[in-house]
This record gives sequence, C-alpha cells and structure tokens, in this order.
Amino acid sequence: MNEHLEEVEALRRRFEAELAAGEVSAAELLKDRRLKDLLAAVKAKPAGQRRAFGRAVNDLKDFLTSAREEGAGPATEPLAYLDVTAPFGVNQSETAALLDPSHGSLHPIAKTQNELVGIFARMGFEAVESRQLDNEFYMFDSLNFPQNHPARDEFDTFFLQEKDADGRALVAPAHTSTMQNRVLKRLKGRLEKGLPIAVVVPGRAFRNEDVDSTHDHMFYQLEGIYVAEKVTVANLIATLKEALSAFFKQELELKIQPFYFPFTEPSFEFAISCPFCSQAAACRVCSGGWIELLGCGMIHPNVLRMADIDPTRYNGFAWGLGLTRLTMIGHGIEDIRHFASGKLEFLRQFKA
Ligand code: DAH
Repeated sequence: MNEHLEEVEALRRRFEAELAAGEVSAAELLKDRRLKDLLAAVKAKPAGQRRAFGRAVNDLKDFLTSAREEGAGPATEPLAYLDVTAPFGVNQSETAALLDPSHGSLHPIAKTQNELVGIFARMGFEAVESRQLDNEFYMFDSLNFPQNHPARDEFDTFFLQEKDADGRALVAPAHTSTMQNRVLKRLKGRLEKGLPIAVVVPGRAFRNEDVDSTHDHMFYQLEGIYVAEKVTVANLIATLKEALSAFFKQELELKIQPFYFPFTEPSFEFAISCPFCSQAAACRVCSGGWIELLGCGMIHPNVLRMADIDPTRYNGFAWGLGLTRLTMIGHGIEDIRHFASGKLEFLRQFKA
C-alpha cells in the first residue's frame, strides 16, 4: 500500500468519526480540502498506481455522498435545493431533485403567445412584458380617459386599497394598453433618428366580470404599438392581416367596423374570416363566417402628447388582441375556465 492509499484510509476514519459525533454533515465533508487535494492528485499518479488510488478516493467520495443522501449530520443543515413547485415530499430530503422537465409542457396560451411574438419579431416588433399591477394614471389618464368619463366603466377592474408613492390608486390592469405610455416615453428617442417605435406587449388583463364559459376575470392580451412618420390605416390593416394570416397559415379576409376607444381615433373593431369553415355551414367557432378578434385604431394625439411625442410630426397605430380568445378559437376550447383550472387532463392534450 503506498502512502497515499494510507492517507485515504486515515481520512475515511476521520470522516466516520466526525459523522458519528454529529459535528458536521456529509455535505460539508464533501467540500473538505484534503479530499479535494486527493481527488486532484489522481491524474498525476504514475499509470501503475492510478487505478487503485483513484478507486480508493472515489470510494471515499461515494461513501460521503450516500451518507449525505441518508441525511447524516446535524439535522439543522439547510436544504441544498428547494423546488417550490414540487409536490409534497420532494423537498423533504437534502438532495431534493428538481422535477424532470420532460413531464411538463407549455401552457396552450404560452404557445400562442410565443408564436405571435415570433411572427411580430420577424416583422420588426420587439416584445416588452406587461405588468400585473399598475396605477390609475397608466390605466386611464395616460390613455385619454377623462376623469369620471363613463368609458372608464367599460374597463372596470380590481382596485387595491393601497396607493402608490404619489397617492394614485393601484389597479390590476384591465388591458395591456396600460403599457403604451411607458413604451412611447422610453423609445421616443428613436423617432428623432428616423426609426419607428414597433413594440408588442404580451400580458395579463383583469376585469370585473361575471365568469362564464367565455368570460374570465383574468385573460391574456397582446398589445401592439407602432409610431413613425406618416403612418396610415392601411399600414395598420396590412400589418395585422399579415401577422394573423401567418398565425393561421392561410390568407385571411378582414372585416373592419368603426368602434370607440378613448385612446384611438379613429377606432375599429377587427374581424377575420373564419379559418375553419367556408362561411357557409354552421360552424362551431364563428358566427356567420366572421370572428371578432381585436380592437385597434390610430393612436389618439392626446396619448402621444402624454408621452411627449409631437402628434403633428408623428402618428401611429395600436391594437389589443385577445390571446386567450385566440387560443380558444385555434384549439376549439369550449370553456375559458379550463385554462387556469390546473387540470392535467386538459393540459396534457397540448404536449408537443
Ligand atoms: N385595450 C382594448 C381592450 O382591451 C383593446 C385595444 C383597442 C387596444 C384599441 C389598443 C387599441 O391598443 O388601439 O379592449
């Protein structure tokens, strides 16, 4: 036995004694300096001794690893990992394994979102995430809703009792349009350089809603914002037509009707030809061949002004598309409440 092998033996005896005394944990001993030195020394050994020496050192390491798994050492040792999403019991052992991701899958709404963000990215739009808590200024004032105007009722949402640092009421945003003022202010420098502002904002929206199979108090939207010089309604229509045709992988027809939003002028309601029927037979998805999909319009000059953008020089369009609704249409999902139910029978159907 060479001197190094003896040293491994001595180290093992020391470790065993320390573990038995309960002074240190196996996890800590695995970080022991001498053990590390010995492991590093394996490679430097002459070929004739390397195998026996390597086995002895690795046996010692394995001994500590299994001791760690059995929980040897002081009971107060903090957990090495804590997977807060894991089912009961998984975090009980010090070596709690993270769950194997191959069992999971993307939520169907996440898939719709990723796909659309990808389509718009290829058209030059960058993505900015929305917020789940905002204040009255971004929810209403920055979007040209006058104080006490009845249009605020259309976007009735959850108000918190807490106020922000400036005394403004906090709200759960009723639409992703709350991000318009932030995006415009942050990127307005681009306009001076002759570049457009082109952004999509995916996010959650919250409404005071009587929940039924097609309405929930929480759903997902994808906001779009485009500002440059001399932007027209034709640009708006072409952009949405291209993107939605790419999403449904077929050339769609559009139907555009006038509507009212305080933050756009003119405002439109935007319907696409049903991708699932020939507009004849009764269809489970559409009514009469058309599907109303989104609200949109040319950004109101006051909204640009609120972001310090000169509306006599620049203009643009915006839209708000319902990602939850689009996912329901795309997959023939009949009840919106499935999405947040957490039911595995539902979710497993969308595993790629
Ligand atoms: N925020 C509107 C809603 O949730 C949708 C919308 C309409 C967004 C017009 C826009 C827009 O950006 O320009 O109903």
